[in-house]
Amino acid sequence: MKNIAILASGEGSNAMNIIEHFRFNANAKVVLVISNKGEAPVVEKAVMTNVPVMILAKKNEFNNPKLIAFLKKQKIDLIILAGFLLLLPEDLIKAFPKKIVNIHPALLPRHGGKGMYGSKVHEAVISAKDKESGISIHYVNERFDEGEVIAQFKCPVEAKETVETLSEKIHSLEYKHFPEVIEKLITQ
Ligand code: GRF
Repeated sequence: MKNIAILASGEGSNAMNIIEHFRFNANAKVVLVISNKGEAPVVEKAVMTNVPVMILAKKNEFNNPKLIAFLKKQKIDLIILAGFLLLLPEDLIKAFPKKIVNIHPALLPRHGGKGMYGSKVHEAVISAKDKESGISIHYVNERFDEGEVIAQFKCPVEAKETVETLSEKIHSLEYKHFPEVIEKLITQ
């Protein structure tokens, strides 16, 4: 049985979806949610699921050998970033090689990088008149959205697409594929 930790800063709908996917799963379970924002909706939602929640409100709390030691002690096998907005420090990334995975709501390398999150990504896709968008699931490195891509899933962008309709399509792709890809990574 593998242990998953989720890092999230916002709504947490992906975090919840992953928690539910693995709730009765024989291969893995979500044992920890870490947020950098105590007031983020993901925190309250995660508390309701009975998964332990940790708040690290100061940026330098992520850049601390104690966090690495704690995650190792908790026997965390995979760290999933689901709407997590901070850049992770190098030491943490090095401590979990190919064990930290992010989801980005566009087809990287398009529309990634610092400041490209949430509706800003969908706005960029629409104003670039892209014919398709999608999701990218990728390993995390020291730069925003630049780690090796593991899987991508696409959807069409219609001429009349709005940020809201595109965001719905992207979320559906995320809910369908992110848990599956995580499970594959864990069982491969
Ligand atoms: C998702 O679209 C994800 O791709 C991006 O941030 C959004 C988070 O949504 N990185 P939620 O917090 O899971 O609802």
